Amino acid sequence: MKKNETDNRFSPTDLERIVSETFVAQVDYHETVGSTNDRALELSPAAEDQFPLLVLAESQTAGRGRGTNQWWSSCGALTFSVLLATEAAGLPTERWPQVSLTVGLAVCEALEELLARGVPTTSLAVLPMASLKWPNDVYIEGRKICGVLVEAPRDRQGRLLLGIGINVNNSVNNAPAELKSTATALCDLTGRQVALTDALIEVLKRLAERLQPSDLWNAQVREGWRRRCLLTGQKICVDLGVRQSEGVCRGIDDEGALLLDAEGQVERHFAGVVTRLE
Ligand code: BTN
Repeated sequence: MKKNETDNRFSPTDLERIVSETFVAQVDYHETVGSTNDRALELSPAAEDQFPLLVLAESQTAGRGRGTNQWWSSCGALTFSVLLATEAAGLPTERWPQVSLTVGLAVCEALEELLARGVPTTSLAVLPMASLKWPNDVYIEGRKICGVLVEAPRDRQGRLLLGIGINVNNSVNNAPAELKSTATALCDLTGRQVALTDALIEVLKRLAERLQPSDLWNAQVREGWRRRCLLTGQKICVDLGVRQSEGVCRGIDDEGALLLDAEGQVERHFAGVVTRLE
């Protein structure tokens, strides 16, 4: 390894640190796997205790996004899934529609912390803010840096899977052509590499904090989604599969629904694919 080059692998010591410093109870680690979400879904039926279970991979060969999208997961990316027992995690089904947004919020906060590391206090004010593109993307400087894929295992009730992909040390200079102008990575924003274990620990700590059920959680988390909503005030189209709806985004309501002002009629959307129109 060249001097100053970050080793993007996870050592046994790194895995021990992840368990001792975060809410994760066990780690299922792979150098390469198809998809960490698929692996976690495979493990779910037999996993009886020791939650949250973290499935972590250095690279994925079949990383999945929403719908039929693929997720670019080369070396230096953080790609992982957290399998939760929902009762113990305080996540009854009525909170599930809000989980993607809340995971996104935790990632925004962790990325801002990582961006600020090593930056002199006098320059902190000019650091970029991380935003949420409802319902499951994190953007910085107008480019996507993280995607979240929340799934509920079909064969097992009471479990929820949080799949998270973040571009950290995988510069988009090496990304497929179609991503070069729409995606970014932490290393592209800062010009430096970060230790992947430190980045993962930061994200997991924020996740545990933001997912906890409490009145404080409710108020702060909702305020966090709204403040970071990338679409508020923008002309957008929501593709609902059966039809499309166009209008101006009026933010996110308390239950996590996207508010779409379609010619004066405010529609609430809990699902759909959003495109910005201008
Ligand atoms: C999206 O942008 O539509 C969501 C992307 C989610 C990607 C992550 S990477 C880790 C986990 N495993 C997967 O196969 N997908 C998620």
